[in-house]
Amino acid sequence: MRILWRLWLRPGLFKTIVFIFTFLSLALLLIQSPTRYQPPSEVSIRDQPSSAKSQIAETDLVPTGPSVESDPIHLPNSDWLPIEHSNREVFVYSAYLDRRKSQHYVRVIAIVRRRKKVQFCELTYGNITRRVSSKVKMIRENWNLLYSAAYILCEIPPDNKRPDTVALVDNNKVDKTSVIPVQITAERAHHGNMSACIKPFHYEFNRAVWLVEFIELYQLLGTNHFIFYNHTVGPDVQKVLEYYQDEGIVTVLPWALPVKSQKEIRTEGIFAALNDCSFRSIKRFHYAAMVDVDEYLVPRGYANLIDLIRELGVYDVYIFQNVFYYLYWENDTAIHDTFYGNKNERSLGYSLLGEEDQFPYLLTAYKTRRLTKVHKPGTRSKYIVRPEQVVEVGNHNVWEHVGK
Ligand SMILES: *[C@@H]1O[C@H](CO)[C@@H](O)[C@H](O)[C@H]1NC(C)=O
Ligand SMILES: *[C@@H]1O[C@H](CO)[C@@H](O)[C@H](O)[C@H]1NC(C)=O
Ligand SMILES: *[C@@H]1O[C@H](CO)[C@@H](O)[C@H](O)[C@H]1NC(C)=O
Ligand SMILES: *[C@@H]1O[C@H](CO)[C@@H](O)[C@H](O)[C@H]1NC(C)=O
Repeated sequence: MRILWRLWLRPGLFKTIVFIFTFLSLALLLIQSPTRYQPPSEVSIRDQPSSAKSQIAETDLVPTGPSVESDPIHLPNSDWLPIEHSNREVFVYSAYLDRRKSQHYVRVIAIVRRRKKVQFCELTYGNITRRVSSKVKMIRENWNLLYSAAYILCEIPPDNKRPDTVALVDNNKVDKTSVIPVQITAERAHHGNMSACIKPFHYEFNRAVWLVEFIELYQLLGTNHFIFYNHTVGPDVQKVLEYYQDEGIVTVLPWALPVKSQKEIRTEGIFAALNDCSFRSIKRFHYAAMVDVDEYLVPRGYANLIDLIRELGVYDVYIFQNVFYYLYWENDTAIHDTFYGNKNERSLGYSLLGEEDQFPYLLTAYKTRRLTKVHKPGTRSKYIVRPEQVVEVGNHNVWEHVGK
């Protein structure tokens, strides 16, 4: 296991990488301007207000249609499926063959009710079926809620057979309604340097301009593909996602969460999504960045994140320290004024690009001041992993590595 915790111990490096982070609900923005830096004024650090409204969307379990069948990163997913006999105790999403440790598993990404056990899985190999032992491993950070994201680990012998599908056995019954395909990571084609894994969209997220900014800036920073989970999105964001799906750089996975977000499971099942995305990125991408749409990892002194990582050397995970940029602070209008002039002071005259409202409200252009405080690594950090090397990822750090 190699973790790059050392960034903050080395003052030279620290200057090159500052992490950026925002909370939309709290109206905070943490962005590090890549080109210019304004010293932050003295500010005190505010306590975090308690969590915002928890609006619950009623969801049902309808698998999505075949519209995305040409996207290999999407395939072969449908949506959350209940295990019929389990009385709403187990739901499954995706399954991956994991042969990286000495015990091989089919790893099922699931949502499981507290203390629920699943003792067997049934695998198919062509027309042969095989029953194997399994166990439930809760994914950390579940905050003691009724449900948790979990891995169901179906133990398989280290033969060379590749299972086609997996189903869970509950109350000694095989659940045929929730048979899911086993994804074989070894057989995948390489897709690019880096994917971005983003926690599920929720509350009808509809900040289309900010989403475009996120996708475009992360592309400039070396990201080749974006993996989103669709709990709910608003109409403008829907159009943005469709546009980028057509471009082939965005995968949107269905996420009709079967339990109540916040009340029954942590934020939209974020840990099931992030871990699914990490497995989905194995072999396809050298790196996967775990970030949210209001969080920017900015490499100072490097053209992009890939160059930075290569310079740092080979680690399982690259952890970026967090600083906050508050949304409600005064806008930095320097870029705006360059194009449109500043009406109140020395004006540049007529605007260079046309109507004022054509210059979008971009966070990275308007919010260039940050708090002086840089959080310690692991506290609100965000990170980039080598997906082949990690087993369980969390919100701010990695919990389990392959080499451990
Ligand atoms: C199972 O599949 C194999 C290979 O495709 C075939 O030879 C065999 O007849 C099948 N057996 C049954 C019971 O369908
Ligand atoms: C991957 O990163 C390297 C180094 O920055 C770059 O030369 C190459 O073009 C990148 N490949 C893709 C597909 O982005
Ligand atoms: C998101 O989910 C909704 C509801 O299932 C669906 O109508 C919409 O097309 C999805 N959007 C994308 C971009 O997949
Ligand atoms: C910053 O500019 C945006 C877009 O013009 C505006 O909506 C917002 O209220 C401004 N914020 C502040 C704190 O002035």
